[in-house]
Amino acid sequence: MSSKVRVAIIGVGNCASSLIQGVEFYRNARAEDYVPGLMHVNLGGYHVNDIEFSAAFDIDKEKVGYDLGEAIWRGQNNTVKFAEVGSLGVPVHRGMTHDGLGKYLSEVIVKAPGPTADIVKILKDTGTDVVVNYLPVGSEMATKWYTEQILEAGCAMVNCMPVFIGREQYWRQRFEERGLPIIGDDIKSQVGSTIIHRVLTRLFQERGIKLEHTYQLNFGGNTDFLNMLERDRLVSKKISKTNSVLSQMQHEVAAEDVHIGPSDYVPWLKDRKWAHIRMEGKAFGEVPLSVDLKLEVHDSPNSAGIVIDAVRCCKLGLDRGLSGALEGPSSYFMKSPAFQVSDERAHELTELFIEGKVGAACISDPESPVQRRSPAVPDPARVTAADQTPVSSQA
Ligand SMILES: NC(=O)c1ccc[n+]([C@@H]2O[C@H](COP(=O)([O-])OP(=O)(O)OC[C@H]3O[C@@H](n4cnc5c(N)ncnc54)[C@H](O)[C@@H]3O)[C@@H](O)[C@H]2O)c1
Repeated sequence: MSSKVRVAIIGVGNCASSLIQGVEFYRNARAEDYVPGLMHVNLGGYHVNDIEFSAAFDIDKEKVGYDLGEAIWRGQNNTVKFAEVGSLGVPVHRGMTHDGLGKYLSEVIVKAPGPTADIVKILKDTGTDVVVNYLPVGSEMATKWYTEQILEAGCAMVNCMPVFIGREQYWRQRFEERGLPIIGDDIKSQVGSTIIHRVLTRLFQERGIKLEHTYQLNFGGNTDFLNMLERDRLVSKKISKTNSVLSQMQHEVAAEDVHIGPSDYVPWLKDRKWAHIRMEGKAFGEVPLSVDLKLEVHDSPNSAGIVIDAVRCCKLGLDRGLSGALEGPSSYFMKSPAFQVSDERAHELTELFIEGKVGAACISDPESPVQRRSPAVPDPARVTAADQTPVSSQA
């Protein structure tokens, strides 16, 4: 069991930049410091500075062949710089393109020449523990291809984007068979549009407001938004965001009354993202009530702390010999976990996971200590049917 968390990255874009900067920024944080966006400076025995970047893969000519510490400032990356990052001694290898570049990204990214690197060998040779997937939305074939390499190499996976792997029974089983953990899918930012919309939807539910119409319109100026101008590529993103919000509601709402999704690309916003959320409902006496809000956020750093926690949870899973979806951390860190619970419950289950009091299947397994009302758990009765929404793979 290594005392380090060796992390490989697929897709050296803005999110990878924020993650790498974040590890540098909090390298010397003290265990007792309050770090915004991290659950703990020392999570289950792993400090932020125990994270080491072991390997990286991209297909952009501007990034392949460069040191990872340099590649994060290259190409189309335009997120905020909040930390100096020196050379990491990790080259960016040529990945497999498949469907990684859609219509709009192919206009601004030139593919690196040369053959695809031997991903399995690199992951094994570098002693990689956890692979983080940051491919563009819509990279369905590429994500599945890389997942096969990760399984073969014997690594854990954190799937930050909305091609469904951790959510799907088929892939969960593949990770179980290989004795490897996975946290997925589609990273939920620290305070992003999804979590705000989820929490308000839960509030409406709990305070008896009947939600009748809602929308969430997002736009930004990074390549994630440029890529999502291609409507066909963002089907899974819409499903992921919509399910995440609707999982917090108990009554039906017609599909035409809910619109949640990325809407446009505004280049001058760079990595800033603006989200407009409107919710209309009926309160006591059928009297109308509405909420209108705007969120302005730097998109990529907003999810980096969550990934720092997720990779450390995956490493704990590896240390403990856990396999398949880590259900507690997936429900807290991801928009599309296999099982949705409330955010409060997800947080509680993740803390219990970190403490080693629950294992991988703490939501789905009726034999889990949480389900069996172990005295170690403060309020086990809160696992209710409404709190446990299995997600249909047909969505
Ligand atoms: N807060 C957030 O930023 C957030 C939240 C949730 C999900 N996500 C998701 O995370 C993913 C990454 O976001 P980002 O902002 O870093 O995107 P990005 O466009 O900045 O980076 C994507 C990178 O992937 C590379 N790439 C494309 N095809 C590839 C292939 N086949 N193999 C290897 N590399 C390839 C690109 O060259 C680019 O460097 C997106 O799917 C996004 O939707 C981000």
